[in-house]
Amino acid sequence: MTQVKATNIHYHEGNITRDERWKALGVKGATMWFTGLSACGKSTIACALEQALVNQKVPCYRLDGDNIRFGLNKNLGFSAADREENIRRIGEVSKLFADAGILTLSSFISPYTKDRDAARAMHKDAGIDFIEVFVDTPIEVCEKRDPKGLYKKARAGEIKGFTGIDDPYEAPTNAELIIKTAEHDLEACVKQCLDCLAKRGLISLA
Ligand code: ADX
Repeated sequence: MTQVKATNIHYHEGNITRDERWKALGVKGATMWFTGLSACGKSTIACALEQALVNQKVPCYRLDGDNIRFGLNKNLGFSAADREENIRRIGEVSKLFADAGILTLSSFISPYTKDRDAARAMHKDAGIDFIEVFVDTPIEVCEKRDPKGLYKKARAGEIKGFTGIDDPYEAPTNAELIIKTAEHDLEACVKQCLDCLAKRGLISLA
Protein backbone atom coordinates (compact mmCIF):
# COMPACT_ATOMS: atom_id res chain seq x y z
CA MET A 1 0.00 0.00 0.00
CA THR A 2 1.31 3.45 -0.91
CA GLN A 3 1.82 5.65 2.10
CA VAL A 4 0.36 9.11 1.59
CA LYS A 5 2.87 11.63 2.93
CA ALA A 6 1.81 14.94 1.42
CA THR A 7 -0.36 17.18 3.54
CA ASN A 8 -1.81 20.67 3.01
CA ILE A 9 -2.15 20.20 -0.74
CA HIS A 10 -5.04 21.46 -2.84
CA TYR A 11 -6.05 20.32 -6.32
CA HIS A 12 -5.79 23.23 -8.76
CA GLU A 13 -8.19 23.04 -11.73
CA GLY A 14 -7.07 24.57 -15.04
CA ASN A 15 -9.04 27.05 -17.14
CA ILE A 16 -10.12 24.48 -19.74
CA THR A 17 -11.79 21.11 -19.43
CA ARG A 18 -10.44 17.88 -20.90
CA ASP A 19 -13.23 17.93 -23.48
CA GLU A 20 -12.32 21.44 -24.55
CA ARG A 21 -8.67 20.43 -24.89
CA TRP A 22 -9.44 17.26 -26.88
CA LYS A 23 -11.90 19.04 -29.16
CA ALA A 24 -9.57 21.97 -29.83
CA LEU A 25 -6.66 19.64 -30.59
CA GLY A 26 -8.78 17.04 -32.44
CA VAL A 27 -7.52 14.18 -30.26
CA LYS A 28 -8.88 11.45 -27.98
CA GLY A 29 -6.73 10.04 -25.21
CA ALA A 30 -6.94 6.54 -23.76
CA THR A 31 -4.65 3.89 -22.34
CA MET A 32 -4.06 0.56 -24.03
CA TRP A 33 -2.37 -1.61 -21.40
CA PHE A 34 -0.41 -4.63 -22.63
CA THR A 35 0.25 -7.36 -20.07
CA GLY A 36 1.99 -10.70 -20.48
CA LEU A 37 5.15 -12.67 -19.80
CA SER A 38 8.60 -11.44 -20.76
CA ALA A 39 9.12 -12.10 -24.51
CA CYS A 40 5.38 -12.63 -25.07
CA GLY A 41 5.41 -9.91 -27.74
CA LYS A 42 4.00 -6.92 -25.82
CA SER A 43 6.70 -4.49 -26.86
CA THR A 44 6.88 -5.75 -30.44
CA ILE A 45 3.13 -5.25 -30.89
CA ALA A 46 3.19 -1.86 -29.13
CA CYS A 47 6.06 -0.68 -31.38
CA ALA A 48 4.31 -1.74 -34.60
CA LEU A 49 1.00 -0.33 -33.39
CA GLU A 50 2.67 2.98 -32.50
CA GLN A 51 4.13 3.14 -36.01
CA ALA A 52 0.74 2.39 -37.61
CA LEU A 53 -0.96 5.06 -35.47
CA VAL A 54 1.67 7.72 -36.14
CA ASN A 55 1.35 7.00 -39.87
CA GLN A 56 -2.34 7.84 -39.44
CA LYS A 57 -1.34 10.99 -37.53
CA VAL A 58 -2.85 9.72 -34.28
CA PRO A 59 -0.95 11.23 -31.33
CA CYS A 60 0.29 8.23 -29.37
CA TYR A 61 3.18 7.29 -27.12
CA ARG A 62 4.67 4.05 -25.88
CA LEU A 63 5.65 3.41 -22.28
CA ASP A 64 7.74 0.26 -21.99
CA GLY A 65 8.74 -1.69 -18.86
CA ASP A 66 12.42 -2.06 -19.67
CA ASN A 67 12.77 1.57 -20.84
CA ILE A 68 10.98 3.14 -17.89
CA ARG A 69 13.29 1.26 -15.55
CA PHE A 70 16.24 3.23 -17.00
CA GLY A 71 14.75 6.48 -15.72
CA LEU A 72 11.58 7.17 -13.75
CA ASN A 73 11.60 3.74 -12.10
CA LYS A 74 15.33 3.09 -11.85
CA ASN A 75 15.00 2.78 -8.08
CA LEU A 76 12.66 -0.23 -8.36
CA GLY A 77 13.52 -3.92 -8.63
CA PHE A 78 11.35 -6.98 -9.11
CA SER A 79 10.00 -7.78 -5.63
CA ALA A 80 6.20 -7.87 -5.41
CA ALA A 81 6.27 -4.47 -3.64
CA ASP A 82 8.53 -2.90 -6.28
CA ARG A 83 6.44 -4.30 -9.13
CA GLU A 84 3.35 -2.86 -7.42
CA GLU A 85 5.00 0.58 -7.22
CA ASN A 86 6.20 0.25 -10.84
CA ILE A 87 2.65 -0.36 -12.03
CA ARG A 88 1.16 2.30 -9.73
CA ARG A 89 3.48 4.97 -11.13
CA ILE A 90 2.93 3.90 -14.71
CA GLY A 91 -0.82 3.72 -14.16
CA GLU A 92 -0.65 7.37 -13.03
CA VAL A 93 1.68 8.41 -15.87
CA SER A 94 -0.52 6.65 -18.45
CA LYS A 95 -3.57 8.44 -17.06
CA LEU A 96 -1.82 11.81 -17.37
CA PHE A 97 -0.68 11.11 -20.94
CA ALA A 98 -4.18 9.95 -21.88
CA ASP A 99 -5.71 13.02 -20.22
CA ALA A 100 -3.42 15.17 -22.37
CA GLY A 101 -5.01 13.51 -25.44
CA ILE A 102 -2.41 10.86 -26.22
CA LEU A 103 -3.24 7.27 -27.09
CA THR A 104 -0.92 5.71 -24.56
CA LEU A 105 0.48 2.23 -25.18
CA SER A 106 1.78 0.85 -21.90
CA SER A 107 3.57 -2.49 -22.02
CA PHE A 108 4.54 -3.96 -18.70
CA ILE A 109 4.55 -7.56 -17.49
CA SER A 110 2.27 -6.31 -14.69
CA PRO A 111 1.97 -9.81 -13.24
CA TYR A 112 -0.48 -9.08 -10.41
CA THR A 113 -4.22 -8.73 -11.02
CA LYS A 114 -4.67 -6.29 -8.14
CA ASP A 115 -2.03 -3.91 -9.56
CA ARG A 116 -3.57 -3.97 -13.07
CA ASP A 117 -7.02 -3.49 -11.51
CA ALA A 118 -5.70 -0.50 -9.56
CA ALA A 119 -4.43 1.05 -12.82
CA ARG A 120 -7.83 0.35 -14.37
CA ALA A 121 -9.64 1.91 -11.38
CA MET A 122 -7.58 5.13 -11.47
CA HIS A 123 -8.53 5.54 -15.15
CA LYS A 124 -12.19 4.79 -14.44
CA ASP A 125 -12.26 7.36 -11.63
CA ALA A 126 -10.80 9.93 -14.04
CA GLY A 127 -13.31 9.00 -16.80
CA ILE A 128 -10.57 7.79 -19.14
CA ASP A 129 -10.80 4.66 -21.30
CA PHE A 130 -8.56 1.76 -20.17
CA ILE A 131 -8.17 -1.15 -22.55
CA GLU A 132 -6.42 -4.17 -21.09
CA VAL A 133 -4.73 -6.33 -23.70
CA PHE A 134 -3.60 -9.78 -22.59
CA VAL A 135 -0.75 -10.89 -24.82
CA ASP A 136 -1.39 -14.56 -24.24
CA THR A 137 1.73 -16.42 -25.35
CA PRO A 138 2.51 -19.78 -23.72
CA ILE A 139 5.62 -19.72 -21.56
CA GLU A 140 7.19 -22.48 -23.65
CA VAL A 141 7.05 -20.16 -26.67
CA CYS A 142 8.41 -17.16 -24.70
CA GLU A 143 11.22 -19.31 -23.35
CA LYS A 144 12.09 -20.60 -26.79
CA ARG A 145 12.23 -17.03 -28.16
CA ASP A 146 14.27 -15.75 -25.18
CA PRO A 147 15.56 -12.68 -27.08
CA LYS A 148 17.44 -11.30 -24.06
CA GLY A 149 18.68 -14.70 -22.77
CA LEU A 150 16.86 -14.06 -19.49
CA TYR A 151 14.92 -17.34 -19.31
CA LYS A 152 18.21 -19.19 -19.73
CA LYS A 153 19.72 -17.19 -16.87
CA ALA A 154 16.62 -17.74 -14.71
CA ARG A 155 16.73 -21.52 -15.34
CA ALA A 156 20.41 -21.49 -14.39
CA GLY A 157 19.51 -19.72 -11.13
CA GLU A 158 21.39 -16.57 -12.17
CA ILE A 159 18.20 -14.47 -11.94
CA LYS A 160 15.96 -15.01 -8.94
CA GLY A 161 12.24 -14.21 -9.00
CA PHE A 162 11.84 -14.27 -12.77
CA THR A 163 8.22 -14.05 -13.88
CA GLY A 164 6.87 -17.41 -15.03
CA ILE A 165 9.87 -19.34 -13.69
CA ASP A 166 10.02 -18.73 -9.95
CA ASP A 167 7.73 -15.70 -9.71
CA PRO A 168 3.98 -15.60 -10.43
CA TYR A 169 2.07 -14.31 -13.45
CA GLU A 170 -1.66 -13.93 -12.83
CA ALA A 171 -3.39 -14.09 -16.21
CA PRO A 172 -6.19 -11.53 -16.72
CA THR A 173 -9.75 -12.78 -16.63
CA ASN A 174 -11.42 -9.54 -17.76
CA ALA A 175 -9.15 -8.24 -20.54
CA GLU A 176 -10.84 -6.25 -23.31
CA LEU A 177 -8.61 -7.97 -25.87
CA ILE A 178 -6.66 -11.25 -25.97
CA ILE A 179 -3.88 -11.60 -28.50
CA LYS A 180 -2.28 -14.94 -29.28
CA THR A 181 1.09 -14.27 -30.85
CA ALA A 182 1.88 -17.97 -31.23
CA GLU A 183 -1.08 -18.28 -33.62
CA HIS A 184 -1.10 -14.96 -35.50
CA ASP A 185 1.61 -12.93 -37.19
CA LEU A 186 2.54 -9.40 -36.10
CA GLU A 187 0.40 -7.71 -38.75
CA ALA A 188 -2.70 -9.60 -37.61
CA CYS A 189 -1.98 -8.76 -33.96
CA VAL A 190 -1.67 -5.04 -34.79
CA LYS A 191 -4.90 -5.23 -36.80
CA GLN A 192 -6.67 -6.68 -33.75
CA CYS A 193 -5.54 -3.64 -31.73
CA LEU A 194 -6.53 -1.16 -34.45
CA ASP A 195 -9.97 -2.79 -34.80
CA CYS A 196 -10.43 -2.63 -31.03
CA LEU A 197 -9.52 1.08 -30.95
CA ALA A 198 -11.82 1.82 -33.90
CA LYS A 199 -14.70 -0.06 -32.28
CA ARG A 200 -14.35 2.13 -29.21
CA GLY A 201 -14.41 5.28 -31.34
CA LEU A 202 -10.83 6.19 -30.46
CA ILE A 203 -9.53 6.12 -34.04
CA SER A 204 -11.03 5.79 -37.48
CA LEU A 205 -9.65 3.00 -39.63
CA ALA A 206 -7.39 4.18 -42.48
S1 ADX B 1 6.82 -5.66 -14.02
O1 ADX B 1 6.66 -7.04 -13.52
O2 ADX B 1 7.19 -4.73 -12.96
O3 ADX B 1 5.64 -5.20 -14.78
P1 ADX B 1 8.42 -4.69 -16.21
O4 ADX B 1 7.52 -4.87 -17.37
O5 ADX B 1 8.55 -3.31 -15.66
O6 ADX B 1 8.04 -5.75 -15.06
O7 ADX B 1 9.91 -5.15 -16.60
C1 ADX B 1 10.08 -6.44 -17.15
C2 ADX B 1 11.41 -6.54 -17.89
O8 ADX B 1 12.47 -6.50 -16.97
C3 ADX B 1 11.50 -7.89 -18.59
O9 ADX B 1 11.08 -7.81 -19.93
C4 ADX B 1 12.97 -8.22 -18.49
O10 ADX B 1 13.67 -7.68 -19.61
C5 ADX B 1 13.44 -7.50 -17.28
N1 ADX B 1 13.60 -8.32 -16.05
C6 ADX B 1 14.72 -8.32 -15.28
N2 ADX B 1 14.54 -9.09 -14.20
C7 ADX B 1 13.27 -9.60 -14.26
C8 ADX B 1 12.51 -10.46 -13.41
N3 ADX B 1 13.00 -10.94 -12.28
N4 ADX B 1 11.25 -10.80 -13.80
C9 ADX B 1 10.75 -10.30 -14.94
N5 ADX B 1 11.42 -9.48 -15.78
C10 ADX B 1 12.67 -9.12 -15.45
